[in-house]
Amino acid sequence: MDLKNYIADVEDFPKKGILFRDITPLMNDGKAFAYATNEFVNFAKQVDAEIVVGPEARGFIFGCPVATTLNIGFAPVRKPGKLPREVITAEYDLEYGSNTLCMHRDAIAPGQRVLIVDDLLATGGTVEATIDLVEQLGGIVVGLAFLIELTDLNGRDKLNGYETLTLMQY
Ligand code: PRP
Ligand code: ADE
Repeated sequence: MDLKNYIADVEDFPKKGILFRDITPLMNDGKAFAYATNEFVNFAKQVDAEIVVGPEARGFIFGCPVATTLNIGFAPVRKPGKLPREVITAEYDLEYGSNTLCMHRDAIAPGQRVLIVDDLLATGGTVEATIDLVEQLGGIVVGLAFLIELTDLNGRDKLNGYETLTLMQY
C-alpha cells in the first residue's frame, strides 16, 4: 500500500514556510490506518518490545493500537503539568528556545524493553528527549518507529545506534 496517498500536504501551517504533513486522512481510512499500525506491530515483535512509549499527542494515536494488539502496556510522554503523579523530565531544543517533556517515575521498569512510537521524525528533538526519559528510568530502547521521516532535517543523525523504522520519507 502506498501510504503517501493518505498524507495531505498543507503549505504554510502552522507558520509561513512550513510544509505540514497531515496524517489525519490516513487515520480516516480504516485500511490504511490498520496497515500502518500493523507495520509497527511487526517491528515491535522483531525487536521483542515489552512496552510502547509515545509522546503526546500524535504518538498516542499510533502507539496505543500497537500496545493493545500485542497485549503490552503503553506509557505516555507529556508536556509539563499534565501528569498527576511524580514525574521525571527531559529538555529538548526547538528551533528557538527549548521545551520539556515528562514521564511518570514508575512508568517503565528497569531493564524493560521499550519501543518508542511517533507519527513523525523531524529534527529528532522530541524522540531524543523521549529516549532520555526512558533511559533515566533504566529502560532499554530497542526500537524507534515513525510513520514519516523528514530527511532534510537530519533527525536520524541523533539516533545512531538505535534500530529505527520509518514508513515514509520526504
Ligand atoms: C510533532 C510530531 C513529533 C514532533 C517531531 O509533534 O508529532 O512528535 O513534532 O518533531 P521533532 O523531530 O523536530 O521533535 P508536536 O510537538 O507538534 O506535538 P503534537 O503531536 O501534540 O501536535
Ligand atoms: N512536526 C514537525 N514538523 C512537522 C511537519 N512538517 N508536518 C507535520 N508535523 C510536523
